[in-house]
Amino acid sequence: MLKKIPTRDLKPGMFVADLGRGWLNHPWKTKSKLLESFDEIRELAEFGITEVVVDTEKSQAPPAAAAKPAPAPKAPAAKAAPAASVPKAPFKTLPDPVCGLEVELPKAAKAYGKALDTSKALVAACRMNKKIEISVVQENVDELVESVSRNRDALMALMKLRRFDDYTYTHSLNVSVLAISAGKSLGLPDDELRMLGLGTMFHDLGKTRIPGHILNKPGKLTDEEFAIMRNHSAMSGQIILEQQLQVEDIVYKIARHHHERFDGSGYPDRIKGEDIHHLVTVCGLSDVYDALTSDRVYHKGRSPHEALKFIYGLRGVHFEADWVDRFVQSVGIYPPGTVVQLNTDHVAVVMDINQAALHAPLVKIIADPAGMISSRPKLVNLADQAEAGDIKIKRVIPRDEAGFDPAYYFNPPKD
Ligand SMILES: [Fe+2]
Ligand SMILES: [Fe+2]
Repeated sequence: MLKKIPTRDLKPGMFVADLGRGWLNHPWKTKSKLLESFDEIRELAEFGITEVVVDTEKSQAPPAAAAKPAPAPKAPAAKAAPAASVPKAPFKTLPDPVCGLEVELPKAAKAYGKALDTSKALVAACRMNKKIEISVVQENVDELVESVSRNRDALMALMKLRRFDDYTYTHSLNVSVLAISAGKSLGLPDDELRMLGLGTMFHDLGKTRIPGHILNKPGKLTDEEFAIMRNHSAMSGQIILEQQLQVEDIVYKIARHHHERFDGSGYPDRIKGEDIHHLVTVCGLSDVYDALTSDRVYHKGRSPHEALKFIYGLRGVHFEADWVDRFVQSVGIYPPGTVVQLNTDHVAVVMDINQAALHAPLVKIIADPAGMISSRPKLVNLADQAEAGDIKIKRVIPRDEAGFDPAYYFNPPKD
């Protein structure tokens, strides 16, 4: 019998009869196979495949959805859904962009630049114990939300192309951009996106109260140092209270709880499961992703692909599985600005994500296999088989290995 099963419910031993995708849009050589490992299942999720067809007769293990219904549990009584229950948004909720990437980029660059100044001003205000201008932060966050609503990829591309600014300032802003962008593609309403943007801008302000020798220590922290470092999220919340900022409660929660984890292993309050608000989860995922992909003084950042693989490994442990799946889907494994080598050995820059085929974005081919830069870069949609044929991404080329600035191909404004 054939059954549709969510990818997250797959287990080794199940026979996948159909991936529901064209051959270009999945990682396997065939569209059907017996699952042998969790790695194969993870691979499907990384390709944005959220549901497959399983043949229960060919399966060696009963698929969860096809199993006999278990008798109703006697206790405990079903818990009422919490007020802030997770909205079950479908995966592909992102509407067509209101305007093209080229049109939105200059506007997004302006909003990003202003918000970066604000991020610096926030850190300075906390260090000097001065009043935070909440209306300015709110205005900047509104502009970020508006930009994402017009075209989600513009700010994501700018974030990816950031180069010289200090992690201290770019991190909070980039977490904000990632969270708003992920939230948008998950179908969160605009008021939640604004609260998410505000909370993420504040999330690490408590680090201004951590001694510099601990905050910037190149090696591993001692247990004692780590205990001090862990105070930063509680302090971020404390700063919001001390400053008497007129913000919604969830903004405070995002700041205080962004290191809380699904299994209760986080801090400072060790809350877990559904007690963690879904906006806190989106902030936590964005925070981990930005920390993993950022170049720091003492180590190089991981590629988006590696970072998402790592985050996928945390599903159901540090973060609720559903939200991990949604986050991976929304970020895309090759965000705009990524430099890639194709299977033809041409070099290309990723210009845009295809939400329905994360591994097959829109790319600009900029160099031939010999490394000769083309004067007329060609735009190719890898998800369009008629256009791309057998062309696929072979690997990500690290920024320092690429030898050119991918920002050039987005024609960013000079200001
Ligand atoms: Fe943090
Ligand atoms: Fe952070």
